Amino acid sequence: MQQRENWGSKVGFILAAAGSAVGLGNIWKFPYIAGENGGAAFIFIYLICIAIIGLPVLIAEVLLGRTTQRNPVGAFRKLSNSKIWVSVGGLGVIAGFVILSFYGVVAGWSFGYIIESIKGTFFEFSKVGDSGAYFTSLTSNITWIVGYLAIFMSLTMLIVYFGVQKGIERASKIMMPLLIVILLILMIRGLTMEGAGKGIDFLLKPDWSHITPGAVLIALGHAFFTLSLGMGAMMTYGSYMSKKDNIPSAAVQIVFLDTLVALIAGIAIFTAVFATGQSPDVGPGLIFHTLPVVFTKMSGGYVFSILFFILLTIAALTSAISLLEVVIAYFVDERGWKRHNAVIVFGIVTFLVGIPSALSFNVMSGFKIFGLNFFDFVDFLASNVLLPLGGLLISIFVAYIWGFDKALLNLKQGAENLFDNYPRVVFFWKIFLKYFAPVLIFLVLLDSTGILSSIFK
Ligand code: TRP
Repeated sequence: MQQRENWGSKVGFILAAAGSAVGLGNIWKFPYIAGENGGAAFIFIYLICIAIIGLPVLIAEVLLGRTTQRNPVGAFRKLSNSKIWVSVGGLGVIAGFVILSFYGVVAGWSFGYIIESIKGTFFEFSKVGDSGAYFTSLTSNITWIVGYLAIFMSLTMLIVYFGVQKGIERASKIMMPLLIVILLILMIRGLTMEGAGKGIDFLLKPDWSHITPGAVLIALGHAFFTLSLGMGAMMTYGSYMSKKDNIPSAAVQIVFLDTLVALIAGIAIFTAVFATGQSPDVGPGLIFHTLPVVFTKMSGGYVFSILFFILLTIAALTSAISLLEVVIAYFVDERGWKRHNAVIVFGIVTFLVGIPSALSFNVMSGFKIFGLNFFDFVDFLASNVLLPLGGLLISIFVAYIWGFDKALLNLKQGAENLFDNYPRVVFFWKIFLKYFAPVLIFLVLLDSTGILSSIFK
C-alpha cells in the first residue's frame, strides 16, 4: 500500500482548513442573512452558536479524522463495526458531491463577474433593477453559466490533482494570505466612504425585535455551514494531521479566522452599501445585484469590483477543494484508486451533476422537485437536511458510540499542556458535545423538515 499523504506543517493544516471554512458562506451568504435578520443582534446570536456548537463539533470532526487517518467512511469503519455508522460516512461523501455541484455554479458566477468587472460592466448601473436584469441575462445564457462552472471545476480539480501537500496545502498558503490582504483593502475602502457610519451602526447596534426563533435557527444552521461541518470535510483534512499537533488550538484558530473574515466582509460590504444609499436586506441578490450598483457609485469602483470578485472566487476555490478532497480520499483509501484518476473521473462527474443546477436558471427553470427548482432543491437538501443530519450523527457518535472518554484520551495527544493548564476545557467540551450540540442541531433539522412538510402540502 502507498504511504498515506499528510500536511507538511501545522500552519499548512490551519490554512487549508480555514480555507475550507472561509467560502461563499462568509462573503456571500453571511452578509445577506445578517442583513435580512437585522444586523447586530443576529451577529451576536451567530457568535454564540459558533462558540457553543461550531467549535465543539469542529474539534470532534477533526479528531475523528486524525485518530483514524481515514476518509469519513473509513473513519467510521475503524471505530465501529456497525454498517449503519459506516453509511453515515457514505452520506458525507455523497453530500460532498451534491454540495460541490451547486457550489460550483455560484463560484462560476463569481469567476464570470471577475471578467465582467475587468470589462468595466459594473460602471453602468444606477439602480438594482438594471444590475438584476443584467445578472438574469448572464445566468440565462447557457454557455456563460455552464462555461464558468466548467472553468471553476477545472481549477478545483487542478489543485486537488497535485495532492495534499503540493496541491491543497501549497494553494492554501498562497491564496489565504492574498484573501486577507484583499479583504483588508476592501474594508478600508468601505470605512473611508462618506456615510460609512450608518453601515457600522447597522453592524453594531442590536435591534432585538428581529430575533425570532427562526432567526436563531438560521444562525445555528449557518454556524454549521460556514465551518464546513457535518459531512466529513474537516474529518478528511484532520486525517492528514500528525498526532503531535494540538487539535483544540488549531480549531480555535480556524474558527477565529472564519469569523474574522465573515465580520470584515460584513464591514466592507455594509459600509459601502449604506454609503451609496442601497438597502441591506435584499437577500441572496446582495452580492450579484446590489454590489454592481455600489461599484458604479463609488470612486475607484472599477478596481474595487475586480478585487472583490477575485476575493469571492478565491474563497470559493479553497472551499471547493475541500469538498472534492472528501470524495477523492474515499476512492483513494477505500477503493484503492490512484489520486490522479479519481480527480479526473469524479471532478467530471461533479461537473455533470452541476449542469442541471446551472440549467435551473434558464432552460430547466420550470422543472420542479417538491416545488423547488433543481438548484434550490440540492441546496436545500444539502444545507438543510444532509449537513445538520450529518452533524447530529457525528456528535452522537463521538459522544456516545465511540464514547466521550475514549475521544478525550485521543484529543489529549498533542494537547497535553492545554489540558494540564486548563482542566476546565474537558467540562465545556463534554457538556457542549454531549448535550447542547445534539439537541440544538436536532432543532435545526426539525425546522427544515417543517419547511419540508409545507412543501409536501
Ligand atoms: N464552509 C464553506 C463556506 O462557508 C462551504 C463548505 C465547504 C462546506 N466545505 C463544506 C460546507 C463542507 C459544509 C460542509 O462557504
